[in-house]
Amino acid sequence: MLSDYKIIITGGPTREWFDPVRYISNASSGKMGIALADESNKISKNTCFIHGPINEHLLAGKPYRCIKIESTNDLLEAVLAEIEDNSILIMCAAPADYTPVKKSDEKIKKQDENIFIEMTRTPDILKNVSQIREPRGLKNFFVIGFAAETSNIEEYALSKLKEKNLDMICLNDVLKEGAGFGCDTNIITVYTRGGLKIELPILTKDKAASEILKLVAQELER
Ligand code: PMT
Repeated sequence: MLSDYKIIITGGPTREWFDPVRYISNASSGKMGIALADESNKISKNTCFIHGPINEHLLAGKPYRCIKIESTNDLLEAVLAEIEDNSILIMCAAPADYTPVKKSDEKIKKQDENIFIEMTRTPDILKNVSQIREPRGLKNFFVIGFAAETSNIEEYALSKLKEKNLDMICLNDVLKEGAGFGCDTNIITVYTRGGLKIELPILTKDKAASEILKLVAQELER
């Protein structure tokens, strides 16, 4: 039963700084992650929300454990520290895929010429999790990813399900009105490792979170 599991949810963006006042990030508000954590906490008191920089007011009074991180590297460390036997990881965060190679100690001065910031790949958290799953011998461990896509959406979501070795993936077509970043609703299609496809209609993020958790519970019972 879902209530017997520790449920770890990630949400929000990460920030990758290139000087003391500027960073690379994205438009994730954390709302979808918070909705999942709220719904999860109704089911399992062992809910933990690992989040990037988001509006702190959204977290006021939340009864579950919240862990604040900043960079994709921080998120990787926090996730690896939390996963254990009998846990479910829901990776709803939007981690930056690139980070600047160098962080200047001083604010980079304006100049007339274009500037180039060299970027390097950040770690893929879900791939790291997949690589340690067997060596660590994790038992009853279930992983759900999200896919934020703008083209070839089903093809990309299914390849992420496979390449990241996920039990389930929640696809949101982030170009659709009422779906994805920042808004209070989402339009999600869920795909499972076993080949199921469940299309949810446009729903508030709270309701979408509740439907996702119901589907996780069903998969655990299989
Ligand atoms: O926060 P909101 O404003 O409410 O918006 C919600 C959302 C659109 C951010 C959310 O619904 C969502 O789609 N989150 C995933 C965003 C994302 O990073 O998607 P992706 O397709 O780039 O990544 C695929 C999966 O890999 C995701 O589960 C992601 O968390 C994970 N990932 C990505 C990069 C990385 N370095 N490591 C990862 O594990």
